[in-house]
Amino acid sequence: MFTKKSTIGIIGSGAMGSGIAQVAATASHKVIVYDNNKDSLAKAENNLKASLTKLVEKQKITIDIQKEILSNINFVSSLNELANCNLVIEAIVEKLEIKKSVFSELEKLVKEDCVLASNTSSLSITSIASSCTKPERVIGIHFFNPATLMPLVEIIPGIATTDAIITACKNLIDTWGKTTVIAKDTPGFIVNRVARPFYSEALRIYEEGIADMPTIDWAMKEIGGFKMGPFELMDLIGHDVNYIVTETVWTQFYFDPKFKPALSQKRLLEAGFLGKKSGRGFYNYAADAKINEPVKDIELGKTIVRRILFMLINEAADTLYLKVASRDDIDMAMTKGVNYPKGLLKWADELGIPLIVKELTGLKDFYEEDRYRVSPLLKQNFIMKKTFY
Ligand SMILES: NC(=O)c1ccc[n+]([C@@H]2O[C@H](COP(=O)([O-])OP(=O)(O)OC[C@H]3O[C@@H](n4cnc5c(N)ncnc54)[C@H](O)[C@@H]3O)[C@@H](O)[C@H]2O)c1
Repeated sequence: MFTKKSTIGIIGSGAMGSGIAQVAATASHKVIVYDNNKDSLAKAENNLKASLTKLVEKQKITIDIQKEILSNINFVSSLNELANCNLVIEAIVEKLEIKKSVFSELEKLVKEDCVLASNTSSLSITSIASSCTKPERVIGIHFFNPATLMPLVEIIPGIATTDAIITACKNLIDTWGKTTVIAKDTPGFIVNRVARPFYSEALRIYEEGIADMPTIDWAMKEIGGFKMGPFELMDLIGHDVNYIVTETVWTQFYFDPKFKPALSQKRLLEAGFLGKKSGRGFYNYAADAKINEPVKDIELGKTIVRRILFMLINEAADTLYLKVASRDDIDMAMTKGVNYPKGLLKWADELGIPLIVKELTGLKDFYEEDRYRVSPLLKQNFIMKKTFY
């Protein structure tokens, strides 16, 4: 279906669209980037030139390759220019009605066999596809930010997407040097679902006063082996993005208490304390700000890590149980999409499923909240003395 000669259209030249364009052009495709905002197009073109110049300076690419990549990309201000594309990836604002209207317009002008993809993080692919007369050619192709650096891409078929299109998209994105996983069209797909407890359980521990933020961050890095602590990471992602993803996943799961957002994070958003980018989030980034030292108590640290990690494992197990993705894809997604030190299901086997079930059951008994219910798959494995691998 696709070859090196396939032309790739990108709609939206913001953070994601411009990154995906660079990836496709680096893989030798002709790329046409459309945006309805001329300033955004100009900014994307300038950023692309600057980013390629940096790569040349660092000797990651040659000047000839830089020239070739630049000549592969065209920035256009009319959607009609995408008429001859073989694949179009949409990366515009995260609003369902706007995406649907763009897909409906796009479908009318492209060829019969052009594949239409969305890079949405949180909307249903099936719902976007419903705006098209041929929903079978619509699919989710979800890159992570920054698309040029993050290796993972989630491929999300809608309810009507054909197998041929799933396979063709997977194979194509593999040739772009990315690691692809396939996820069912469910809220948060794999990564944005399974990762929720990393934030929400850390927030809960903090809200209960079990430990302060620097201590939780210290424990997750030093004892858990994660690259960043939950509070540092939320501040880096920005609360306007991270809180909204949590709220969207929670809402789309019909308010399942497992995904309930935390008030302490909502207040930051309300205050405009968006994190590092606004100078203040959970932490204060002013040059003279004083940050508390973590309480480096190993036992406390281990308790924190176990609670957050076991909730992550519980969600990974539920994601497998509900057939959102395969065991290998779930583990791959968390290591390649959010840099977890290990796949969560593999980690569960190493730690021992009986210990995880015991601690989660303890949390459920103590809090009497549905949030802590143990995944049926973990219980099943425990009873049958089975492991994930
Ligand atoms: N930023 C992330 O971390 C991230 C990660 C993965 C997926 N996503 C998803 O990618 C998509 C884009 O996100 P982003 O962060 O690049 O946004 P962004 O705000 O940086 O860029 C969006 C671009 O779309 C353009 N646009 C808006 N409406 C348009 C329309 N009707 N037609 C043409 N262009 C239009 C805007 O001018 C802007 O340039 C969203 O669906 C988002 O959920 C974002």
